[in-house]
Amino acid sequence: MSVKEQLQSIDALRRVVKAHKVRREMRTDANRFVANYAESMSDHACVDYHVLLIVHSLEKGMCSQGLRPFGKKKVRELIDYLKTYSENQKVSTAYEMGVSILLVWKDLFDKHGWQQEDGYKAVNEFLKTIPASFEPVPVGAHEYTLQDATAHRIDDFTTVIKDRHSVREFKRVPLKRDDVLDCVEAARYAPTACNRQMIKILEVTDQAKASKLKDAIMGLGGFDKDAVTLFVVTFDLNAFTFYGERNQGYLNAGLVAMRFADALHFKGIGSCFLQWGNTGAEEAAISKLLNLKDSERIAVVLGAGYYPDCTMVPYSHRKEISEIFIEV
Ligand SMILES: Cc1cc2nc3c(=O)[nH]c(=O)nc-3n(C[C@H](O)[C@H](O)[C@H](O)COP(=O)(O)O)c2cc1C
Repeated sequence: MSVKEQLQSIDALRRVVKAHKVRREMRTDANRFVANYAESMSDHACVDYHVLLIVHSLEKGMCSQGLRPFGKKKVRELIDYLKTYSENQKVSTAYEMGVSILLVWKDLFDKHGWQQEDGYKAVNEFLKTIPASFEPVPVGAHEYTLQDATAHRIDDFTTVIKDRHSVREFKRVPLKRDDVLDCVEAARYAPTACNRQMIKILEVTDQAKASKLKDAIMGLGGFDKDAVTLFVVTFDLNAFTFYGERNQGYLNAGLVAMRFADALHFKGIGSCFLQWGNTGAEEAAISKLLNLKDSERIAVVLGAGYYPDCTMVPYSHRKEISEIFIEV
């Protein structure tokens, strides 16, 4: 038995070392959060996220039943943020949404005769600086009827969901870009907190990078490593505004990743989540390899490929409904 194995066999010592590692990694997480969250303004992307937050808030205001003048402070804040964009930065969707929501807000105030309200003049003046060639994107609020919500209802959603199994062997055929993009399109419509859309999906097609990533991933046992394509799902800390959002990235990445995995399944592409359980130091090395920003964190990896004609999968039996659904 090696010295390391001997030390690991002492239960109390093993627990102390593990607890130390948990604290060390959580401290690293906290430091990265503070250095990169929205208030840090460490990157212009923070402005994008502040803009998206305000757009979302104004859109919710526009959904109110008994509409009254609203958003006077928000529109001023939004204008201040929009003024910080350079010409190059104005190509961002967040900028387009920011300007578009001001156009909708002004239209609404015009329609209700609220031109004397605080904020209106500032919005009007700002919009005069926007070139006539600006093409608004759809923002604001629209009716959503029961018919809209149920138009494409499939008979049994659960059956399709139950068809999916994590697979670890794949056809040795490269993924078609169009198939992947169709699935990204589905993932794009996953909800994110305040519609800030801080999640990215990276397809690692460079074989040298894929090989290093495979070395770093812990759970690749039983995988056909030569046939698997890796997708890395990241979140951007620039999007988050306070301590209450410290875990928001993982949740939002999970929602997007699940949508992506279900869409892959629908396209005949099998996949398996691969946990990103790595240390801050290991993540830093992979982040550099993938050219991630300082504010980007890796949430999870997906291994994927076209379904083979046949493969073995665990049953992965689920708990009973009564064990996971609780009325309180
Ligand atoms: C966040 C997450 C991380 C996972 N990590 C791994 C992994 O590292 N290696 C692996 O073989 N499977 C991994 N899995 C797959 C699970 O083991 C699998 O989803 C689970 O057993 C249920 O099986 P099913 O996906 O076939 O329904 C992961 C799943 C999730 C959701």
